[in-house]
Amino acid sequence: MSIKDEKIWIIGGSGGIGEALAQKFAARGALVVISGRNRDALDAALKRIGPGHHAAKADVVDRGSIEDAARLHGPFDRIIMTAATYDPGAVSKADPDKAAGIFEVNLTGTFNVAQIGASHIKPGGQLVLFGSAAAIFGLPNGQVYSATKAGIVNLAQSLRAELWPQIDVRLVTPGFVRTPLTDKNTFAMPGLMEPEAAAARILRGLDGTRFEIAFPRRLIWPLKLLGVLPHRLAFALTARLRG
Ligand SMILES: NC(=O)c1ccc[n+]([C@@H]2O[C@H](COP(=O)([O-])OP(=O)(O)OC[C@H]3O[C@@H](n4cnc5c(N)ncnc54)[C@H](OP(=O)(O)O)[C@@H]3O)[C@@H](O)[C@H]2O)c1
Repeated sequence: MSIKDEKIWIIGGSGGIGEALAQKFAARGALVVISGRNRDALDAALKRIGPGHHAAKADVVDRGSIEDAARLHGPFDRIIMTAATYDPGAVSKADPDKAAGIFEVNLTGTFNVAQIGASHIKPGGQLVLFGSAAAIFGLPNGQVYSATKAGIVNLAQSLRAELWPQIDVRLVTPGFVRTPLTDKNTFAMPGLMEPEAAAARILRGLDGTRFEIAFPRRLIWPLKLLGVLPHRLAFALTARLRG
């Protein structure tokens, strides 16, 4: 199959990294279907992506809406699940209802897309899940989000073992990318990238063969190092980020 004839479903394609990915895939001839909850945001993104593509309003926590979109627009060469929410702050100040919502969208939502989507991916096609650099080692002030992303890492590993070679499961581990999600951050974001640069990096990775697409290296490697340091040393370093 030529990359020009691909059909790609990007859940979370109405903004941020998902939209930048949709633009890149569309520019090389793929047909993209974008999903999100907000109709106006979907229509606006569709205009920016260009003619001939589709939007399917769907909420990842509503399994019926994901099933409907998959049945209407599938089968797909790739399903890319980027939808997520984030609410940074100290654990003592976290709103439990908001926290439950983050678990539901990020973790249950990813499970919903993976389980339902798997039967709508062509043989040998890709299922792409989004972790985060925040999942590599628990850092202060992002506990709930980081925990969901660590769960997604484990889910992606399990699915890769279970579904290969019928489905090529991939994990994307971005560092900081300038989007509405990171606009909530009040701290300096090392290695901050623009969504277009992140999308180009992800697309290159998805065309390659590695399970995990992690970038930028200067953020990823120090975080991976934290995981192999003695805990006492690692926590002495991460406590400095409490703010
Ligand atoms: N930006 C970063 O620095 C960064 C770093 C590491 C990892 N990531 C990960 O990369 C992915 C994309 O992040 P981003 O920064 O591009 O996020 P973003 O700009 O906030 O965009 C999120 C997209 O997901 C959609 N969405 C949110 N909740 C949804 C739901 N319940 N059902 C369906 N769609 C939903 C949004 O549309 P609606 O609100 O209209 O539904 C929007 O299209 C996320 O998984 C994020 O965790 C981002």
